Amino acid sequence: MRGGLFVFPATIMNALEQLVESARADFAAAGQPAELENAKARFLGKTGRVTELLKGLAALPPDAKKAQGAEINQAKQRIETLLAERRDQLGQAELERQLHAEALDVTLPGRRRGTGGLHPVSRTMERIEAIFGSMGFDVADGPEIETDWYNFTALNSPENHPARSMQDTFYVDMKDAEGRWLNLRTHTSPMQVRYARAHVARHAAAMARGEPMPEIRVIAPGRTYRVDSDATHSPMFHQCEGLWIGENVSFKDLKAVFSAFCRRFFETDELQLRFRPSFFPFTEPSAEIDIAFADGPLKGSWLEVSGAGQVHPNVVRNFGLDPERYIGFAFGMGPDRLTMLRYGVADLRLFFDGDLRFLSQFR
Ligand code: PHE
Repeated sequence: MRGGLFVFPATIMNALEQLVESARADFAAAGQPAELENAKARFLGKTGRVTELLKGLAALPPDAKKAQGAEINQAKQRIETLLAERRDQLGQAELERQLHAEALDVTLPGRRRGTGGLHPVSRTMERIEAIFGSMGFDVADGPEIETDWYNFTALNSPENHPARSMQDTFYVDMKDAEGRWLNLRTHTSPMQVRYARAHVARHAAAMARGEPMPEIRVIAPGRTYRVDSDATHSPMFHQCEGLWIGENVSFKDLKAVFSAFCRRFFETDELQLRFRPSFFPFTEPSAEIDIAFADGPLKGSWLEVSGAGQVHPNVVRNFGLDPERYIGFAFGMGPDRLTMLRYGVADLRLFFDGDLRFLSQFR
């Protein structure tokens, strides 16, 4: 018997042609190398369609075997070529995918180590310390969580006194070891009492021998807190306290010291100062200090920069000193306000937003 494939060579050719085409389509449909290997097996594997055809040759007479074998081998070769081409394509695609995934963008700027800078308010603090330092003032530092005694009572604001509400504050629902209520300090004035008491204790022996107390001359800069928030008030703000106590320190000295400070801070002699009568429980008499510039954008308007006054006798007594012998002045100024004036910044909150676009301009 002659097999169909053998009897009609034209049909065989047609069938081989279809086989090649179907391999081409299968290979093209394989999107992954593994799929391509499966497709290869369907044609060229041990039981693949081409292999089966070759096995079928065994049953043919020599002539037919030769002729058909050549045709089949030719088709096999074309399928192998198609396979190699498709492998190449997939390999290329994989390579491109990898190159793309691991791409290095050489135009991306490198990460530089940022250069820090001082906060504008810190700059002001440093200026204040340098200027007062040159006038013989010590610099002191104290707690931001303060007892009610130092923050109010020692400063002549008895409990339940209405003057306490001038400085409404953040109370901490907690007492210290001595049972005194704690709050966030509303001003740096408690540092007057802390520093003076430590100073008196330091010189107690000499004073007991009748030697005069070395003068107290100190500034105490730091953070303070109040329930306040608008363009010129922040719930956290800065103050710098000043205190000068001796046997003969007067309001005249306050004027001289504060004027000298302002002229040096703003680097101009064309500056006016005004001491406006005011009230604080811990000073008597008390004043607000205003300044006005002779030129520049703020020319002519008075701006409040500090509270001040002669230290009240009750407070001097709380320092541990005799108010009949020791006297002096204190002031509490706002470094945030000074910073706004110095750099012409209209909104205080900008200093505390932490926006580097703003802050880096002061580097
Ligand atoms: N502590 C006052 C305040 O915060 C300022 C002040 C300090 C006034 C020292 C007089 C003397 O407003």
